[in-house]
Amino acid sequence: MDAIILNGMPVDVAAQESLLEVAARQGVLVPTLCHHPSLSVTGRCKVCLVEADGKLVPACATRAVPGMLVETDNPRVLTARRRRVEALMRHHRGECANCRQREFCGLLELAAAVGLGAVEFREAPLSPPVQSGALLIDLGKCLGCERCVRVCREVRRVDALRHPRFTHQSHAPVRFDPACEGCGQCAVVCPTGAIVEASRHPAERRVRTVCGYCGTGCSLYLDVREGQVTGVTSDPFDPVGGGNLCVKGRFGFGFIHHPERLRRPLVRSGTGFQEVDWEEALEFAAGELGRIRDEHGGRALAGLGSARGTNEENYAFQRLLRGALGSNNVDNCARL
Ligand code: SF4
Ligand code: SF4
Ligand code: SF4
Ligand code: FES
Repeated sequence: MDAIILNGMPVDVAAQESLLEVAARQGVLVPTLCHHPSLSVTGRCKVCLVEADGKLVPACATRAVPGMLVETDNPRVLTARRRRVEALMRHHRGECANCRQREFCGLLELAAAVGLGAVEFREAPLSPPVQSGALLIDLGKCLGCERCVRVCREVRRVDALRHPRFTHQSHAPVRFDPACEGCGQCAVVCPTGAIVEASRHPAERRVRTVCGYCGTGCSLYLDVREGQVTGVTSDPFDPVGGGNLCVKGRFGFGFIHHPERLRRPLVRSGTGFQEVDWEEALEFAAGELGRIRDEHGGRALAGLGSARGTNEENYAFQRLLRGALGSNNVDNCARL
């Protein structure tokens, strides 16, 4: 390996490594905004400035070249970064008390990282916030980092987001192409309240669980407030989905506390249904399944397992069909 001099110390660098990656490997914190580990590099925001061979350069978009002299926290670098963040804040419609992003705000984090205390925010909105499906769009809070556009194009492979030019003067709304799948991933990577889930509110606690919608098994956190599930937060370290969720996994939790949710079994009675207890329902189902098998043979029966069941539950289900009821007509709705 060849080396650069990072803050006075020689550090080996690999081919194609960026200054940001080298610094991170050495435990040197360089604040970032437009950079995201899952997205292409644009070097757009200039928040991650460092000094390389006497020039200020964005660390995320600058390759480490052997022999380079790099400073990440000299007074010139710190001043330049602070000015950059100050400028972003002056163009930002700050109303943190009511902002749905206040729990996870990347801009407030950035301000703290560059040592900004009291901040002057923009006062008037560029355009009023608008709702698009489950998302709330507030362009006055946009920092122009393009993370939303890139995640839709590069990770979701949908390319549905049409964002106005990032001039902070544009009154054009963000447009979602009809191809938009409503997955909400653009809101997840947006560092501010510019694109947020309309239903998001700070959680009192988060419970880690596995999404119950399909057999893929994405991990997620259920946001809980006053004993109710109020939202879903994805887990960027989830080895299955890497923090990506589909529209059902992210927004399909309304059924949990819905007043019409079925909580007890129903048995058909005439043209309607009758609520019964579990014992009665199971006895009825077992009796009818046994009767059909005895009268018509196992092949008269078929079973469709649920993608929302665990592997173990689906294994037990097919054993019931094959072993107890004598039918090989068994399938799973995951194949539909
Ligand atoms: S995005 Fe951050 S800085 Fe802006 S209003 Fe919301 S919490 Fe405040
Ligand atoms: S909701 Fe998903 S599909 Fe729609 S624009 Fe955002 S990232 Fe793209
Ligand atoms: S909407 Fe959010 S993610 Fe998209 S450019 Fe603006 S600040 Fe960045
Ligand atoms: S984080 Fe490097 S330029 Fe934006």
